[in-house]
Amino acid sequence: MAIRRFSEKKLTSEVLHRIRETKNPRLKQVMTAYIKHLHAFVREVKPTPDEWMQGIQFLTETGHWSTGKRQEFILMSDTLGVSMLVDALNYKTSAGATESTVLGPFHRERAPAYPLGANISKHASDGQPCLVSGTVRDTAGRPVAGAKLDIWQGGADGLYDSQKGDAMNLRGVLRSDARGRFHFRCVKPEFYPVPNDGPVGRMLTATGRHPMRPPHLHFWITAKGHKPLITHLFVKGGKYLDSDAVFGVKPELIIDFKQGKDGVATASYDFVLMKNKK
Ligand SMILES: [Fe+2]
Repeated sequence: MAIRRFSEKKLTSEVLHRIRETKNPRLKQVMTAYIKHLHAFVREVKPTPDEWMQGIQFLTETGHWSTGKRQEFILMSDTLGVSMLVDALNYKTSAGATESTVLGPFHRERAPAYPLGANISKHASDGQPCLVSGTVRDTAGRPVAGAKLDIWQGGADGLYDSQKGDAMNLRGVLRSDARGRFHFRCVKPEFYPVPNDGPVGRMLTATGRHPMRPPHLHFWITAKGHKPLITHLFVKGGKYLDSDAVFGVKPELIIDFKQGKDGVATASYDFVLMKNKK
């Protein structure tokens, strides 16, 4: 049998030919696009063998840095704008519904459940006390009772609990009441850097970027019959709103955190969920 010699030009079509029997049509579509774009990238960049090995080492290192608590691949996706792109393509907001944004690498499963009004901050050193309240409604303005609000944030030191140890802090799960209302205590969000001591941090530095995120509070809201909403509330006037390292800011999500005379900041927001299409 004659062995074919693959020319540089024909190599891509040969690789695509090799996956022609992929049974799963979506996998076939994904792999076809992946191979085509990867080959096009290599043709454009023309990496030397050393450079290609550097790229492979970068990805290997990214894998080695990833653990249950440190998600370097999410960080790479976030800082390259891919997470926001995936979100934009999947979460089309209908009129009046709250905008979504990135999940980020710091969400944790099984955060403690709290009653309404609870304080998700366990230590006085976590930051400036803050009271957040609001409602969860649908796009027709009807209250959504029993909506699950999974909330998490970093402290004034710029760190999330998972960056400091196992104990859960500055995160919790609440349920909206019969009129869709919620309120809880936390700390006023501060700006912070995304973890930048690993390969993604080196990439940011090498490309002249800072690792900072503007002050924000994370929400993941779920309710029966409604589309899950993953979003943030950003602090109006906060630093880095115009240059978020993960491109997550949307103007509609920037709200006032008012400074109270008693040293407690207050913020209010009415979340609007979209109905799940049957
Ligand atoms: Fe965050």
